[in-house]
Amino acid sequence: MILQAKNLRKSYAPKGRERIEILKGVSLSVRENEILCVVGASGSGKTTLLNILGTLDEADDGELWFKSEVVFANKKFQLKPDAIAKFRNQRIGFVFQFHHLLEDFTALENAAMPRFILTGDFKQAKEKAEELLVAVGLKDRLHHLPSELSGGEAQRVAVARALVNSPDVVLADEPSGNLDSKNSDKLYELISALSRERGATFVIVTHNARYAELASRTFEMKDGLLEQIR
Ligand SMILES: Nc1ncnc2c1ncn2[C@@H]1O[C@H](COP(=O)(O)OP(=O)(O)OP(=O)(O)O)[C@@H](O)[C@H]1O
Ligand SMILES: [Mg+2]
Repeated sequence: MILQAKNLRKSYAPKGRERIEILKGVSLSVRENEILCVVGASGSGKTTLLNILGTLDEADDGELWFKSEVVFANKKFQLKPDAIAKFRNQRIGFVFQFHHLLEDFTALENAAMPRFILTGDFKQAKEKAEELLVAVGLKDRLHHLPSELSGGEAQRVAVARALVNSPDVVLADEPSGNLDSKNSDKLYELISALSRERGATFVIVTHNARYAELASRTFEMKDGLLEQIR
């Protein structure tokens, strides 16, 4: 088990309005080298869950474990803030719905950034980033700025960036959300190949039925709980 969530709860109380419970005791175990898909209606809490799994957000209650280490329990992080930041950078790769690349940096620099932050070695970070960009088919786009890339290319840079620290698990929120079907298929094949060839583990939130086909297991978020549907 790489990542384990136990009984996660999360509610929001928008100003002056009634508190709404989004996660009502969600438990989930992510196994090594699997592609786990999460589907569910808009507003059902998929992004909320992913943000908690990736320590970008705190649950109200429940536990989060990484391998045999407790990360969140008793309503707070069990590691110091700098250790949480390091954990996130080193162990988790994020692919957001919109790529969030830094506009003033090239594809290569964007992909290298998390590794440079981790090691301080820019040359080595760029080497690793280049290897991944080549793997995602962007050999001829290394020095392009995000504004000079197509949507699909930018999303592939984001995948390379998510993998540059060889994370134990990649959390992807609608990775093909803003792509046309051709680029979406390409990204889908890329994730499948990365899983096969590099043993990467993915948790993918998606509306795209093709990703669900690729998954080892699929869960649906419904009424604040996760149910395995495949
Ligand atoms: N900061 C917040 N304050 C108040 N409510 C919030 C906040 N963040 C999310 N919500 C609410 O929590 C619910 C779940 O949101 P979430 O983003 O997790 O849904 P989702 O399943 O990812 O939806 P989508 O498929 O549209 O991306 C929504 O009803 C949303 O309005
Ligand atoms: Mg969402």
